[in-house]
Order: sequence, then structure tokens, then C-alpha cells
Amino acid sequence: MRHVVKELVRALNLLVTTRRRRHIYSCCDFARKLARLHHVDEEKVTVACLAHDAFRDVPTSKLLRIAKAYGIEPKGMELEHPVLLHGNVAAEYLRRRFKIEDRDILEAVAFHTSGKPNMGEIAKIVFLADSLEETRAYEGVEDLRRLAERDLDEAVIQTLRSKVCYAMKKEYLLFSETVEMWNWLLRNKRSKSLIQNDQDGVEGG
Ligand SMILES: [Fe+2]
Ligand SMILES: [Fe+2]
Repeated sequence: MRHVVKELVRALNLLVTTRRRRHIYSCCDFARKLARLHHVDEEKVTVACLAHDAFRDVPTSKLLRIAKAYGIEPKGMELEHPVLLHGNVAAEYLRRRFKIEDRDILEAVAFHTSGKPNMGEIAKIVFLADSLEETRAYEGVEDLRRLAERDLDEAVIQTLRSKVCYAMKKEYLLFSETVEMWNWLLRNKRSKSLIQNDQDGVEGG
């Protein structure tokens, strides 16, 4: 994986703006910290973070051409906003350029914007780091960072909540995957607390 990291860094120098590079590296720093704290593969997290926005600054017409060459058919909101293809294109780039078939890395990259239900730990970390890295500044971000260091799942819920609230305030459209992710997270949280209550009941009884 080390050569992948090296090559990705080189590719980023050509593909993205300086500002975007700062975001990507900051994202890597925070994601690696979370990976260490939550015992998740740090190298995979690094590769996913480096790749996630590699195509974010590619002009729309070029992005659409690359997507077509990769066999990615724009659908749903991607038709209205082709920039949303950048995650999917980056995941396909990893597969084609580096023969990466690791599903956890690929889903983390492809779904970093929308999120999705049933996401793995690497995808959760990339999703969080994308919104919480050090260059991000908005009300509550500091608390969310601390929460992410303590409790990954709860941080994903609260970060998603903040993103959805913001999108609603701005009257942005929501991805269906985002809504499904929200429902999945809450169902998991409820079943966890039911199990906890059952255990408490048994211990108490
Ligand atoms: Fe992105
Ligand atoms: Fe990003």
C-alpha cells in the first residue's frame, strides 16, 4: 500500500487545488487519529482519505468524460450536479490504477458525500474526517471532533444530523442514501439500547 500512497500524493499535486490539498491532508491526519483510537486499519484509511476528493476539482466536462470512460452512468442527482460523481470516479480510479479491490476502501471513497446504510468502519471514519478535519470551522465542530474520538457511531449520527439540518436550512436536496443511512443508524442505536436495557434488567432482576 505504501507505493499507492506515494503515487496518490503525486497525483494530487496535478489534480487538485492547493486549498483542496490542504483539506485532503487535514482529513488524512484526523482520520488516522480516529483509526488509531478505534483500532481500524490506518493504511486503508489513509488511502481512502487521499483518494476521496482527488477528482473534486476536475472540470465538469472532463469529469463526465472520465466517468463515461470508466463505465459510470450518472444517475439521480448526479445528472443535475455532475460534481457529485467525484467520489464514484475516485473509487473506480483506485480499482483501475492500483488494482484495489478492497470493498471497505472503495465504499468509503465512493460514498463519502452521500453516506450509505451498512457502511463499514473505514467509511465511517472518512465520512467523519471529511466534515470534522481541522480546517473545517462551524458551530459545534469542536464538540463533534471530541465525540468522534470517543464514540464513532454516535459521532456519525450527530455529524449526519448537523449536515442534514444544514442542507434543509439551505433547501438543498437530500440523497436517498443519506436518508437510508440515517434510518439505519437510528435502528442500530435503538437495538443497541434495547440490548443494554435487557442486560440491565437481567442484572437488576
Ligand atoms: Fe468530496
Ligand atoms: Fe472532502
